[in-house]
Amino acid sequence: MSNSNGNVAVVAVLGAGTMGSGIAQVFAAAGAAVRLYDVDLARVEKARDGVKAGLAKVVAKGKLTAEAAEKIVAAIAPATSIAEASRGAELVIEAAPEDMALKISLFREAMAHAPKEAILGTNTSSLSITELGSRLGAGARTIGLHFFNPPPVMELLEIVRGVATADETVERARAIARAIGKTSILVNDVPGFATSRLGVILGAEAMRMLETGVASAADIDRGMELGYRHPMGPLKLTDLVGLDVRLAILEHLQKEIGEQFRPPPILRRLVRAGHLGKKTGRGFYEWTAEGPKEIR
Ligand code: 3HC
Repeated sequence: MSNSNGNVAVVAVLGAGTMGSGIAQVFAAAGAAVRLYDVDLARVEKARDGVKAGLAKVVAKGKLTAEAAEKIVAAIAPATSIAEASRGAELVIEAAPEDMALKISLFREAMAHAPKEAILGTNTSSLSITELGSRLGAGARTIGLHFFNPPPVMELLEIVRGVATADETVERARAIARAIGKTSILVNDVPGFATSRLGVILGAEAMRMLETGVASAADIDRGMELGYRHPMGPLKLTDLVGLDVRLAILEHLQKEIGEQFRPPPILRRLVRAGHLGKKTGRGFYEWTAEGPKEIR
């Protein structure tokens, strides 16, 4: 059991993509033993290398000692199966693609090995926590723990409460947020929660503007960066999050809420071409070691 101050001794993170590896880092930095699982074990190794490289920059800035960085990386243990990841875990977090059937199968397997009271936290950006909990037969301990990219840097944890989520689970989630240094908001389970709904609509409108020739990607982004003080414009942000991730959210919200979320054709085209943003080196920008470069 996690204790009342929210410290969790053992966490299973299922999915070692951008979000899973960042979430693993966050818990490892807070002192937890993390078991990181991915269907592709090579991705787990890549994730650990990514954490190491990210922390090296923090060390170079003098904000973390090399020993502390090493300890964080060492606290992230690769797991070769969901069973291995979940045994003894007080918290199981999945950060797999936005596919309800996939998330259900990951949690079902985890539930067969994790303690009966383990919290089942999903990092979904938009899928229903209520449906997930109900289909798992574990609504009371199922909760949305929505992290933001990059998880080690972003301060927010959006906690999403399903219809059947127990008060105790919400309280534990809030305590966990504090223990990992995040500020939480509590949101009821509606499609897109509070943040995805607003975030993707801005991104989609920017894409529609780009494809109807309103301005270049760089100028659309600069407009929001300098005119609205967004740290990063909506197209650059889409590259950071992943075009495939944004497309899945838009498709889901179009179905659940309405036509204002229809994915722009340019997004589908780029995803079909495999241009998924920063993680593949190209999206609305070309991503080099120096950062995003405008595509002309
Ligand atoms: N581990 C730990 N700390 C790190 C780190 C790492 N891997 N990488 C960077 N940091 C620290 C740095 O040391 C620095 O700390 P300091 O302020 O004390 O010096 C701080 O984080 C900022 O790092 P940088 O200086 O390298 O980065 P920038 O100032 O250029 O900011 C950014 C980069 C944080 C990505 C910023 O551009 C930003 O906030 N962009 C918007 C991000 C955003 O909106 N994310 C949400 C996306 S939506 C989402 O994720 C939801 C999902 O469901 C789709």
